[in-house]
Amino acid sequence: MIYARIAGTGSFLPGEPVTNDDLVARGIETSDQWIVDRTGIRTRYLAPPEMASSDLAREASVRAIEAAGLAPDDIDLIIVATSTPDCIFPSTAALLQSKLGIRNGAAAFDVQAVCSGFVYGLTIAEKFIRSGSHKRALVVGAEVFSRILDWSDRGTCVLFGDGAGAVVLEASDTPGVLAGALHADGSHHPILCVPGNVAAGQVVGDPFLRMDGQAVFKFAVKVLGDVALEVLGQAGLGADAVDWLIPHQANVRIIQATAKRIGVPMEKVITTVDRHGNTSAASIPLALDLAVRDGRIRPGQRLVVEGVGGGFTWGAVLLQF
Ligand code: ACO
Repeated sequence: MIYARIAGTGSFLPGEPVTNDDLVARGIETSDQWIVDRTGIRTRYLAPPEMASSDLAREASVRAIEAAGLAPDDIDLIIVATSTPDCIFPSTAALLQSKLGIRNGAAAFDVQAVCSGFVYGLTIAEKFIRSGSHKRALVVGAEVFSRILDWSDRGTCVLFGDGAGAVVLEASDTPGVLAGALHADGSHHPILCVPGNVAAGQVVGDPFLRMDGQAVFKFAVKVLGDVALEVLGQAGLGADAVDWLIPHQANVRIIQATAKRIGVPMEKVITTVDRHGNTSAASIPLALDLAVRDGRIRPGQRLVVEGVGGGFTWGAVLLQF
């Protein structure tokens, strides 16, 4: 039996943290207290203009490949989850492959599932590995959400940040990924979207992120609770079997309500939204890498990683680290 297990993690945040007061100083009509009370966010990182998602992805990937004890050419599958690709095409994954100097013909493609993208990517990579077709997948979440924010809309621009996280998923005799579930319901697309596109050399429609915050909040809590219980049910385990819950980092109140619904105490929840803001597809691998490197997550522990994002999409993976 071939299983898939995480062999290494890495992450990258660009520049220095930008505080809520820094945003006020930049002219945004908000306050540290409002942002902290409603979201738990204190700082976020914003990439400089010359830095694209593939650059953030490269830094995170180098660290993950090194942590796995591998060389870049050992990777035979590259999946990048992003909603802020470098360009329309080629994929950010192909550009990442080039920036990593991988010349072995590894397959490379992007996944577009917004904030659930990393969970989608991890699940896809696991299927490739379990089929026997691939041995070592690099799965990356990388975003420069600061580029698609309307900085005059205080209801959204204070929430997001830039960053990247990566894992190497490797074929193994021992599990690994224990259970997983992916879902989508496209009928909810209007409550969180960037509706514009590019045609005939012009931006057509609105190129900024738009959101009905309260509708997103309610939807996120419901599906994050449901899908975590679904994957635990697949494995025949209860909430007490979870060593760490790593939910998508959008808002600390969503995270608290989700943990309560699942029955996992907050001491077992990895939270980075206070420092990173919402980095969309990067948020889960960033949080995972942070907790691996600070020694909280240890080999053999059971983790639930779960995401929800525009589409709407949602999903979870239960894994043994
Ligand atoms: N600073 C100060 N005041 C603000 C700000 C701000 N940054 N943003 C909005 N306000 C004001 C509004 O104008 C409004 O003022 P009014 O009462 O005078 O009209 C008031 O605050 C309340 O606005 P609401 O939008 O009703 O505030 P709410 O309590 O819903 O909080 C928030 C907004 C934080 C966005 C919340 O709905 C939320 O967290 N939703 C989840 C959305 C989310 O996390 N999205 C991330 C992307 S989705 C994902 O990753 C899955």
